[in-house]
Amino acid sequence: MDKVTATQTGLLSDALDAAGHHLPMPCRGRRTCGKCGVYVAGVTVPADEHEAALLARYPQPELPGYAFRLACMCQIRGTVAVVTSSIAGVVVADVGMELISYDGTEPQSLGCAIDIGTTTVTLLIFRLGDRELLAEVSQLNHQVAYGSDVLSRIDATATVGSARLQDVIVTQLTGMLDTALRQTGAQATDITRMTITGNTTMLHLLDGLPVRSLGVYPFTPQTLFGETRPARDIFPGLINAELYLPPGISTYVGPDVVCGLLATGVGAAGQAELLVDVGTNGEMAVSDGDRLWCCSTAAGPAFEGAEISAGMPALPGAIEDVWLADDGRIGYRTIARKRPKGICGSGLISAVSTFLDAKLVDETGAMRGTAIEIGNSGISLTQADVRRLQLAKAAIAAGIDTLLAEAGKQAEELSVLHLAGGFGSYMSSESAVGIGLLPPTLIERVSASGNAALTGAVLLTLSRESRGIAEQRAARAEEVGLATHPVFMDRYIEQMSFSGDDNV
Ligand code: FES
Repeated sequence: MDKVTATQTGLLSDALDAAGHHLPMPCRGRRTCGKCGVYVAGVTVPADEHEAALLARYPQPELPGYAFRLACMCQIRGTVAVVTSSIAGVVVADVGMELISYDGTEPQSLGCAIDIGTTTVTLLIFRLGDRELLAEVSQLNHQVAYGSDVLSRIDATATVGSARLQDVIVTQLTGMLDTALRQTGAQATDITRMTITGNTTMLHLLDGLPVRSLGVYPFTPQTLFGETRPARDIFPGLINAELYLPPGISTYVGPDVVCGLLATGVGAAGQAELLVDVGTNGEMAVSDGDRLWCCSTAAGPAFEGAEISAGMPALPGAIEDVWLADDGRIGYRTIARKRPKGICGSGLISAVSTFLDAKLVDETGAMRGTAIEIGNSGISLTQADVRRLQLAKAAIAAGIDTLLAEAGKQAEELSVLHLAGGFGSYMSSESAVGIGLLPPTLIERVSASGNAALTGAVLLTLSRESRGIAEQRAARAEEVGLATHPVFMDRYIEQMSFSGDDNV
């Protein structure tokens, strides 16, 4: 057996690929064959139900200190050692992420990292000394009752007040923290460090700050954070913990983007790279190895499965992949192989890409008929669904084009496209290119970074030095305003087409 060290965040198969170790992946990472198994040691997200079921099909001998995992499903959160009998040589993966380890004096104490997404909130508890992940809790943001996007939440505060939305999120986080602590058997007093990231509006609402100015020109924030304070200010039980709120760049390029930059290494000196975080807001950053540009574009919640007639979050039963089979029929797969209940963001992209291949939808987005059923799932997409995806895709693709124009780069000059976001790891690069969301010349250079904002929050919890790096990067980043940018306006119209032309 040979041993490889991979230093990466995101999918293990991507880290191995980036290191030049191409595992045999019979189902091309579609998570069906169960044949991409490797032994892993290090910080990983525990196997979900689907991976566990596949692993049970092919039992493996034990290797002390290592877990047997499927590389196309195993999310890694830092440095891991991988043992496989099918790869040759020993290589240290060359990726941009800074090697950050705990710089405190109590290795047994616990850290907590939280990402408040507009749609989903995720909380991790881990041991600081060895970064062992002890608990992960993820829930729909309870503030969705006040609107699915940032602007509707801001509007809602005019009626119910910021304090009400603050109360909703603090109550939710307190409950999630209790659940996570129960899972680990630890006490609140064991937590000594905590980082909470999110977009600028989510952190304003967490802090109970007024948000009206975030929603109207010139979109002025009350603060851009980048501060440490006692965690008990928000969570009275966390009497031993310090809370770090990472810095943002502007109202619409927030602390979550800065965390993503830290996690992926985009903006560190060196290579030209692109970070795309696809969510309710599309946030992007490009570095030419020296300067760093970033922007945010309102993609709407289509990528999160919201405002789509059969849309749902990426939960068991959501259609997550769609393809055209050899016999011309449309195949599909649901999360956890459950009966189809709806469709999530990755399924939506892959369904529309398949409809384009099957000529059921044309490049202008016009659909044959008023709705198309996905295989025999009972789940259909309507013309309005396709139009929503078209708008969201155009916003992201035109944002990428504008950043590249600012940086004076062509897509093919970039060495890596880091794809982050709730479903970035699950979205098929082929489908994303198929609908023209990502430039086709980068298809071989896509690295799925998972929830890069959350990974960045883990790094900021581990090390105070990393906070200095994040603050410098935030200060150095140049924000590109898209609303009146001539390149954005031109490209937005052109990118409404599903052709996927790489014509920047
Ligand atoms: S490649 Fe088939 S399950 Fe991973």
